[in-house]
Amino acid sequence: MNTGELLLILLALLLVQVGGFALFGLWRRRRLLGGGAGQAGAVAPGAVLPRTTAADTAAVGWPGFREFEVRRKVYESADRSICSFYLSPLDGAPLPRFRPGQFLTFRLDLAAEDGSGTESVVRCYSLSDAPGRDDYRVSIKRVAAPPKRPDLPPGRASSYFHDQVEVGDRLAVRAPSGQFFLQQEDALPVVLIAGGIGITPLLSMLGALLEQGTKRDIRLFYGVRNGAEAAMGEALRKCARAHDRFHFHLCFSAPTEADRSDPYFYHAGRVAPPLLRNSLPLRRHRFYLCGPPSMMESLISGLEAWGVEAGDVFYESFGPASPRRKAPPAPAESATPPPLVTFNVSGKSIPWDPAAGSLLEFAEANGIEAASSCRAGSCGCCQTALSQGAVAYHHEPDAEPDPGHCLLCISTPRGAVTLEV
Ligand SMILES: Cc1cc2nc3c(=O)[nH]c(=O)nc-3n(C[C@H](O)[C@H](O)[C@H](O)COP(=O)(O)OP(=O)(O)OC[C@H]3O[C@@H](n4cnc5c(N)ncnc54)[C@H](O)[C@@H]3O)c2cc1C
Ligand code: FES
Repeated sequence: MNTGELLLILLALLLVQVGGFALFGLWRRRRLLGGGAGQAGAVAPGAVLPRTTAADTAAVGWPGFREFEVRRKVYESADRSICSFYLSPLDGAPLPRFRPGQFLTFRLDLAAEDGSGTESVVRCYSLSDAPGRDDYRVSIKRVAAPPKRPDLPPGRASSYFHDQVEVGDRLAVRAPSGQFFLQQEDALPVVLIAGGIGITPLLSMLGALLEQGTKRDIRLFYGVRNGAEAAMGEALRKCARAHDRFHFHLCFSAPTEADRSDPYFYHAGRVAPPLLRNSLPLRRHRFYLCGPPSMMESLISGLEAWGVEAGDVFYESFGPASPRRKAPPAPAESATPPPLVTFNVSGKSIPWDPAAGSLLEFAEANGIEAASSCRAGSCGCCQTALSQGAVAYHHEPDAEPDPGHCLLCISTPRGAVTLEV
């Protein structure tokens, strides 16, 4: 073989190698995207997507509580059970942008339950409008006493908002926060699934997507009992008429005759895994879920069973407990034993399991009742006395814990700890 032939063979081998790499890249790309058309910026299954960091929070927020004035109060459902409040800051300074899906934390001074003056009550409400407005909007559902306990008082904060907060009133508000938000840099089709008032963060996501002129397909499955309970139904129908890429599916568990003739009426019953399997094209989607814990648990496990990657499913529940995924397999035995977490009031000492994620989830997994609301370090509800040891935070808490206390929802133990819960 002469030098020319050898060079030709080497060149051919090089071409085969380059071609092989290119084909492998293409195949891998199609596999990740479920065989769909090219999607720039898609994220590999199971990849850890960016979360809000302390730096993000600092960039968009303000420290502590800021005074806002109620500018408008608007009922959003035919049964007047949902009311929006439009809020502007009293200092007149511009509002920081938030991420669609995040929430505000309110500190309300309410009449004390025992009749002795007032007491502070902290509650979180999702921002229900797209970012970039001159004001913030939250949409609040009036919470009644549980059906089986009509003797109990109705929800304190929601009743206060509905019955007493009027235009011109002032409210103390913490900066937008929360880990449940739309991945805007993403390109996959979006499936939004709302149960009841869980529609609020999804309205913000939908608004943001439509305003940015997205090329992504968006499907909204909105589960409520009937049309009278649906929030902003007319606005959603208008969006669906105006945007081809937005598919609006109303799912009524108890539809009236009139509901059945609604052009967007899609399903009589709850939003459940079989409905999604029968409705969605076979390709990769990004799922955003917000609703009551029972609905979320069935959807999260249903999507998992269907083969949807955990990294493609984002969810938030309005508390108190958050739906749990199946625990990942236990890591191989490590040489150092896990630190002991002692729950002093409950009288339990249990070796820490890193798969739990946070001390709050660890407590819940072990049958220990701990108060919580936002589960994001914003409301302070899960504050617990730490009588021994130290904790590490996932990110800097928005709600500064009192000395000697920690926030369970965003912390993990640094060695053995004793908690007063
Ligand atoms: C991140 C996040 C975002 C949220 N976004 C929204 C939103 O956009 N819109 C919205 O409407 N809500 C939202 N919520 C829920 C909201 O924060 C409140 O939890 C909700 O408004 C109920 O608060 P409340 O004070 O009215 O009710 P609570 O006073 O907390 O009462 C809750 C229930 O307990 C019952 N109750 C009263 N006393 C007792 C007793 N002794 N024993 C047992 N039960 C009792 C009440 O009758 C009521 O049914 C969100 C929550 C979170 C965590
Ligand atoms: S639950 Fe809100 S700070 Fe932990």
